Amino acid sequence: MVLANDEYSIWRTAPDASRLCYQHFCWRELYQSNVHPSIDLTNRPNLRIAELATGHCLWAIQVAEEYPHAQVEASDISLGLIPPKPDLPSNLSVRQWSFFDRVPEEWKEAFDLLHVRLVCQPFGGNQDPRPVLEKFVSMLKPGGYLQWDEYDYHEADKNNVYSANDPDIIPHPEITHNSSTKIWKLIMKTFQWPTEHFYRLAEYFTAAGLTDVAAHTRRPPPSVFRAFYEHWYALIAQLLPVLESKDIEVGQEARRLLLQMKKNALVDGDYSAHITKFVVGRKPTASGKGKYEDSQMEAASEV
Ligand SMILES: C[S@@+](CC[C@H](N)C(=O)[O-])C[C@H]1O[C@@H](n2cnc3c(N)ncnc32)[C@H](O)[C@@H]1O
Repeated sequence: MVLANDEYSIWRTAPDASRLCYQHFCWRELYQSNVHPSIDLTNRPNLRIAELATGHCLWAIQVAEEYPHAQVEASDISLGLIPPKPDLPSNLSVRQWSFFDRVPEEWKEAFDLLHVRLVCQPFGGNQDPRPVLEKFVSMLKPGGYLQWDEYDYHEADKNNVYSANDPDIIPHPEITHNSSTKIWKLIMKTFQWPTEHFYRLAEYFTAAGLTDVAAHTRRPPPSVFRAFYEHWYALIAQLLPVLESKDIEVGQEARRLLLQMKKNALVDGDYSAHITKFVVGRKPTASGKGKYEDSQMEAASEV
C-alpha cells in the first residue's frame, strides 16, 4: 500500500528490506553496539527508549533485548517491514507514526533515549529538518539523549575510499576514484536530499537546546569497509531504474559510473563507501546537569 506523503514508499521492496537489514548489521559493527558509547543509560528508573523511522525494527529489537528492563517503543510511517508481533520482544511495542505529524501527548518528555537513523529521503526536495528535530527534543525526558545517525553526506568525497594496497587512505579520492562520488552527486541532484542541513545537524542540536552535543564521524574500519561498499553498490544498482525513469541520461551516466566503481574494486582493490556520523545530544536536567561548562558542541571525528 502506498501512503499519501510517504516519499519512502518506492524503497520498501523485498531487495530493499534485505539491504536495510544488512546495513543495520554493518552499522552495529562500528561500535559493537547499537547505542553510542557516549550515552550512559545506567541508574535510570522506568527506562524508556524510542526508535523513530524504525524500518525493519532491528535496532529496536536488539536494544529491547539488550535492555530487558526498558520499555522500547518503535514507530515508522509504515509498519510494512516490521516482523509479526509474536517475533517481537515483550518489552517492545510498535506503532505507526509519521514524524511530520503531531507528537502524541503520551510521548512528550517521555524518553531517556530517542534514536533515529538514515532519514534523509523523507526530507527530499531540500526540506529543513529543524521543525522535526524540535519534535524529537520535546519527546525527551530532562537528561534524555537524542542519537541521530546518518552518513556524512556533505563530505561524501572525503576519506571514502579504502584501498587494499594502501589501507590507510587514498590521498585524493575525489580526484583519483571519483566514480562513486559522481554517482552520489547525481543521486543528490535527482532527489534533492538536504545534505547541507544534515551536515549542520550538530549545530541544529545545540540551537534546539541540547547540550553535550557531539558529531562522532567514523570511517568504517577495513574489516567492515568492504561490507559498506557492497551495500552502497547494491543501493545504486537498485536505484538505476528509478534514476532512468526520472532522467534517462542521468540513469545511463550512473550505470557507466557504477561499472567503473566495480572495476575500481575488482581490478584495483579500491572500495568506496560513506563515512558514518553519529550525532548525540542531551536535554538539560532542571539543575542544568549534563551541560559542559565551556563547550557545548564537539566534533568528535575519528576519520
Ligand atoms: C533508510 S530507512 C531507515 C530505516 C532504519 N532507521 C534503519 O536505519 O535501518 C528510512 C525509514 O524512514 C521511514 N520514514 C519515511 N518517512 C517517514 C516519516 N515521515 N515518519 C516516520 N518514518 C518515516 C521509512 O518508512 C523507512 O523505514
